[in-house]
Parts: sequence; C-alpha cells; structure tokens
Amino acid sequence: MTNLDPVVRYTRTAVVLHWVIAALVVAQITWGWLMQEIPKSPPGLRADAFNVHKSIGLCLLALMLVRLGWRLLHRPPALPVMPRWQQRLASGTHIALYACLLIMPLAGYLGSVWSGYPVKFFGVTIPAWGEKDDDFKDAMSAVHLATSFVLIALITLHVAGAIHHALRGDRVLSRMWLARERTVQPLAPREITAGD
Ligand code: HEM
Ligand code: HEM
Repeated sequence: MTNLDPVVRYTRTAVVLHWVIAALVVAQITWGWLMQEIPKSPPGLRADAFNVHKSIGLCLLALMLVRLGWRLLHRPPALPVMPRWQQRLASGTHIALYACLLIMPLAGYLGSVWSGYPVKFFGVTIPAWGEKDDDFKDAMSAVHLATSFVLIALITLHVAGAIHHALRGDRVLSRMWLARERTVQPLAPREITAGD
C-alpha cells in the first residue's frame, strides 16, 4: 500500500460511537468504584452519585443498542493482512466487548429495580415495575460485579492490541479514526503551445 491509497475505515458513525462509548465506559467504571466509597450519612450525596452512575449507564445501554444495530447493518472494512490467530483474537475480543457492554447496564438496571430504590434518569423517576427482591437484587449485583472484571480485562487486552499496532505503524488504528480532509493540489497549468 502506498501513501496515496485511501485507508479503509469504519463509517463516521461507527467511529464517533466507538470513541464516545469508550470515554463514557472508562469514566463509568471509575465512578462505579468511587461512588461506593461515599459515606451513607449525611444522606443525599451518595444517592446523587449513584443516580449519575445509573443515568449514564442507561445512556450507554441506549448507545450500545444503536451501535449494535449500526454494526449489523454495516459490515466493517476487511482487516489488513495479519496472522489468523490475531484476527480471531481481535474479533473474539470485539464480540465479548459488545456482550459485556450490553450485560452490564442491563444487570445494573434490573438490580436497581429489585433493590426497591427508585431509578432516576437525570432526576426523572422511571416508573418501577418490580417489587423489592433481595435474592434477584444480589444475583444482578453479582453479574454486574463479575462483568466489570471481565470488561476491564477485555479493555486491557484491546488497548494492548491497539498499542501493538501503533508501534508496528500499520493502518489498523486509523481504521477507527475520522478521515482527514485531503487538500487537492491544483494541476500546474500546461504550457500553451502553438499546436494547442
Ligand atoms: C456500561 C454501563 C455500566 C458500567 C460500565 C458500570 C460499571 C460499574 C462498576 C465498575 C461498578 C463497581 C463494581 C460493582 O460493585 O459492581 C458499578 C456499580 C454499580 N452500578 Fe454500574 N455500570 C454500568 C451501568 C449501570 C446501570 C445502567 C445501573 C443502574 C441503572 C448501574 C448501577 C450500579 C449500582 C447500583 C452499583 C453499586 C453496586 C451494586 O449495588 O451492584 N450500573 N457499576
Ligand atoms: C486507547 C483506547 C482505544 C483504542 C486505541 C481503540 C482502538 C480501536 C481500533 C483501532 C478498533 C478497530 C479494530 C479493527 O479494525 O478491527 C477498535 C474496535 C473496537 N473497540 Fe476500541 N479502542 C480503544 C478503546 C476502547 C474501549 C475502552 C472500548 C470499550 C468500551 C472499545 C471497544 C471497541 C469495540 C467493541 C470495537 C469493535 C468495533 C466493531 O467492529 O464494531 N475500544 N478499537
């Protein structure tokens, strides 16, 4: 491939969704741990912190559903030539990331419903449809916690893969980046000769 060949990329929508979701997920994981350190009294601060986490988590669920739909309708560009095991590892990691990013917010939401506390979306209470149930709540909390460890391991593997490709200087990273506008150099005017 020469410098003049266009890099085959994910669509602009896929790229924007990737980076918005990546930033929110990293913040959400950090916040998920930190918020539990806030003392229960005085009341209010801890509940507010939990509600921010729940609201952003629900936004992530919606974004992931849009992203999944987009992904199913738009085939990603073919990978550059690389060993078969690397291709399999990359696509296995991507599928597992999608699964975790759907399971986590769903488990968080269901656990919150069965906790008996109202789920507030940026201050607006979402109608409760379930009764308080400690067994279901504990099961969902366990899923939420276990998935968070799997997600952190997957993100570490994924970012390590990205760094590996960056160091190799191949074009994998630019596939998940917006195309830069190319400035088209005007052609030098031809010399007008008597024969023209
Ligand atoms: C992709 C979205 C989400 C991510 C990455 C995420 C991440 C985390 C992490 C890392 C923790 C700390 C570990 C743990 O105790 O489980 C946590 C805790 C928690 N999360 Fe989430 N979360 C997400 C979505 C949600 C949603 C949508 C809700 C509820 C509507 C929610 C409710 C909670 C609650 C209540 C806790 C405290 C622990 C518990 O009671 O289970 N999360 N979250
Ligand atoms: C520095 C951080 C990151 C870099 C450099 C990066 C880079 C990339 C690149 C280059 C691809 C395309 C790989 C290919 O062509 O096969 C990709 C795909 C993907 N990334 Fe990331 N990523 C980062 C963080 C994240 C995070 C935090 C998440 C999860 C929250 C994530 C989730 C995904 C998923 C699910 C795909 C597959 C996209 C698809 O095929 O639909 N990435 N990433």
